[in-house]
Amino acid sequence: MADEKPTDGFDALLTEDRVFEPPEEFRRNANINDPGIYERADADPEGFWSDFAKELDWSRPWDRVLDWQPPDAKWFIGGKINASVNCVDRHALGQRRDKRAIVWEGEPGDQKTLTYGELHVEVQKCANVLQKLGVGHGDRVAVYLPMIPELPIVLLACARLGAVHSVVFGGFSAESLRDRINDMQAKLLVTADGGYRRGGIVPLKQISDDALDGSPSVENVLLVKREGLETPFNVVAGRDHWYHELMAQVSDTCPPRENDAEDLLFTLYTSGTTGKPKGIAHTTGGYLVGTYATAKWVFDLKEDDIYWCSADIGWVTGHSYLVYGPLLNGATCVMYEGAPDTPGRDRFWDICARHKVTVFYTAPTAIRAFMKWGPEHVRKHDLSSLRLLGSVGEPINPEAWMWYYHHVGGERCPIVDTWWQTETGSILITPLPGITPLKPGSASRPFPGLKPAIVTESGEPVKVGGGYLVQTRPWPSMLRTIYGDHDRFVATYWNRWGRDVYVTGDGAKVDEDGYFWLLGRVDDVLNVAGHRVGTMEVESALVDHQEVAEAAVVGKAHEIKGQAVCAFVTLKEGVQASDAKVEELRQHVAQKIGAIAKPDEILWTADLPKTRSGKIMRRLLRDIAAGKALGDVTTLADPSIVAKLREQYEDKEG
Ligand code: PRX
Repeated sequence: MADEKPTDGFDALLTEDRVFEPPEEFRRNANINDPGIYERADADPEGFWSDFAKELDWSRPWDRVLDWQPPDAKWFIGGKINASVNCVDRHALGQRRDKRAIVWEGEPGDQKTLTYGELHVEVQKCANVLQKLGVGHGDRVAVYLPMIPELPIVLLACARLGAVHSVVFGGFSAESLRDRINDMQAKLLVTADGGYRRGGIVPLKQISDDALDGSPSVENVLLVKREGLETPFNVVAGRDHWYHELMAQVSDTCPPRENDAEDLLFTLYTSGTTGKPKGIAHTTGGYLVGTYATAKWVFDLKEDDIYWCSADIGWVTGHSYLVYGPLLNGATCVMYEGAPDTPGRDRFWDICARHKVTVFYTAPTAIRAFMKWGPEHVRKHDLSSLRLLGSVGEPINPEAWMWYYHHVGGERCPIVDTWWQTETGSILITPLPGITPLKPGSASRPFPGLKPAIVTESGEPVKVGGGYLVQTRPWPSMLRTIYGDHDRFVATYWNRWGRDVYVTGDGAKVDEDGYFWLLGRVDDVLNVAGHRVGTMEVESALVDHQEVAEAAVVGKAHEIKGQAVCAFVTLKEGVQASDAKVEELRQHVAQKIGAIAKPDEILWTADLPKTRSGKIMRRLLRDIAAGKALGDVTTLADPSIVAKLREQYEDKEG
């Protein structure tokens, strides 16, 4: 835990009192519009979840819905299910054979469409390719791909075989990729020659080669050719195999494996308070039920919807709401490879208009960038097809909410502000768009069947007010462990207020109507443009530089990104601080972790403020970074350090 109480500042009055009722027509047609569902689900959560589970295809039904031995949960025990069958086969072999599953657009403007029938063929072929490369049940497959159609195909092909996929976001460095591969002991790496990003090219294969120097578990590399790209790379004979060549050699049928409901479906690494990133482990049955149910009710998916989630599949949002949730619902999903401002700042609206997107899901950081760029980019396009908007990843400020509502949604589209985490697998706090009156800035109510609570430092529940956000009931898509480190799983999430209370790491406030207002992380995790960045990781990367003696990293409010990374650095004796050194350290962090973790600001300091027991006082650093008045410094070993830092920093700002 951080040295700051999450309740600091919770007493600020909420001034937001606007309420937006669901439009009548939306309410009438919504997949769920009966408010009584909350009470019914609360009375029988297992029955509630199993009703959704029954809508999926199981090759063997479950014997029991839940086995809860806190903190260990098993869901749909004894059930056999295959994720790829549920995402693809049951649509391709049913009424949706010729329905578009994926409508893909590359950053340069190239396009590709896959119907459910075509996706069915591709997934089976790819599963055969994976098998040919020795991948089977329980094997881990690292996936380091750009946002191209092969990415969901590879995930579904892994699922078909019962292999465990672990996607590494294409913006991570070779070192981050190597650490993840080694942690999961991946047998295969799937990558591409490169991908487009903001007009440039990310040389994924070169980065992969670097990563593989030191990842002995990887036996083979499956290499996808990103069409149209010309970037140099080496092909290592015997290890590297072209995807398109192997796809041409295999049969197009591959029977799905009957996976156990509790078989691992995937791991996904995320940053925490301490140590290296954690491999969050999700199993099959519960995850499918959670993502299916929430996609159906929160995004209100209907047969003729064109659904677009702008997240990268490198993050959990892309897993749950670009791949699994919408495909389980048989939806048509738009997938876009690149940046929102390439070639122009209207790219997203151009995509929405051309593909007649009806449901659009994005992040507050993107919305704030759109606000800054101005509504004229939105106005250039006909967005009348939109009927529902979503937001995820960080608190959405009421101003951004109103802008999104007015300029993008034309004041007719409800906004679902969805709170969840890599660990939760699916959305836990959210409006149901046909039921919930919306308050801008509030994620509103728990999804039916869930019981989040706000507790004080000592674990007392708070009825109205602020505190720590916890979950007091298991849910199907909850993480089952941290890959390879169950003790860390228990210590991180279930060790504060009892083994049956899940600690989210977020602070929140609950109002008189039972609406939740998320306030951000209460641990040493930053949320930079909707991405989790561990302050410890950035500190380790900085200290890894040979000229750095010590470093402390804190967050600072940022207009677009929500939070910026601010580093206080002490250089070794005799090393000269300079602007060039700032850039060198920023690049060093990018190389160690990835560009998302690069400090936005570096402040040199001769010493860091520490308590008498030697703990860095982050609260003080945060206040200094924010330019706030300093609080109590009496526990400080050497109070003069703060004054010096403050002086220096103000000089810099001035
Ligand atoms: O702090 C919360 C914030 O994002 C964290 C989870 O990050 P990650 O695992 O990367 O998953 C992001 C996408 C689900 C949470 O602990 N967060 C996520 N959604 C919201 C949010 N904060 C406020 N409002 C949200 N809607």
